[in-house]
Amino acid sequence: MKIFLDTAVLDEIREVASWGILDGVTTNPSLAAKAGRPFERNIREIAEIVGERGTVSAETVSTDAAGMLQEARLVTSWAGNIVAKIPFGAEGLKAVRLCVQEGIRCNVTLIFSAMQGLLAMKAGAYYISPFVGRIDDGGQNGMECVEQLCKLKKLYGFETAVLSASLRTTNHLIDSALAGADIATMPYSVLTKAIGHPLSREGLASFLKDWATIPEEMRPF
Ligand code: E4P
Repeated sequence: MKIFLDTAVLDEIREVASWGILDGVTTNPSLAAKAGRPFERNIREIAEIVGERGTVSAETVSTDAAGMLQEARLVTSWAGNIVAKIPFGAEGLKAVRLCVQEGIRCNVTLIFSAMQGLLAMKAGAYYISPFVGRIDDGGQNGMECVEQLCKLKKLYGFETAVLSASLRTTNHLIDSALAGADIATMPYSVLTKAIGHPLSREGLASFLKDWATIPEEMRPF
């Protein structure tokens, strides 16, 4: 499963890229607003950091297909690894079809049911983004939606990648992997929680304590 960061903050992206596990970045208008930088410059810089590691999703904000297509053309012209993020809906589906005809890759976002995801796959989405955390918030099981989409993808041979999004916990991350998601995107805070474990910290502290008891002349560093 690929690991994407769901952020528009450059420092977070640089940091995770330095760990060697970054496969891409997703952004949305709320994250772009939070970053507080000119949108185009920010997306271009993110795309440069991500480079050949993978893609960067930049979202359109028009509510009609023609506007979405125009914005998709623009954002994907900024760098070769940018994918246009298109909100799900009738206009979104229309826009995806038009984008596909032009070779523009689309991440269909705001997917809240397997049915919506299936339609987006049929339209030719490059990625579909089921919003696990927000589905859970509504009292339903977000991971079930990811599982169903992975099953549908396999059953009908879609090439679309299932991108598990709106992840809030470490469990969301491992459950996405177990469900067979192609990609999981998460905030920096979730990824750092997934890395840290109290027993890893305790174990290291005790190894270092024991190491220090070896006389200096007997250790190489
Ligand atoms: C997906 O690509 C979205 O940007 C994101 O995962 C939304 O997550 P949220 O529900 O935490 O805002």
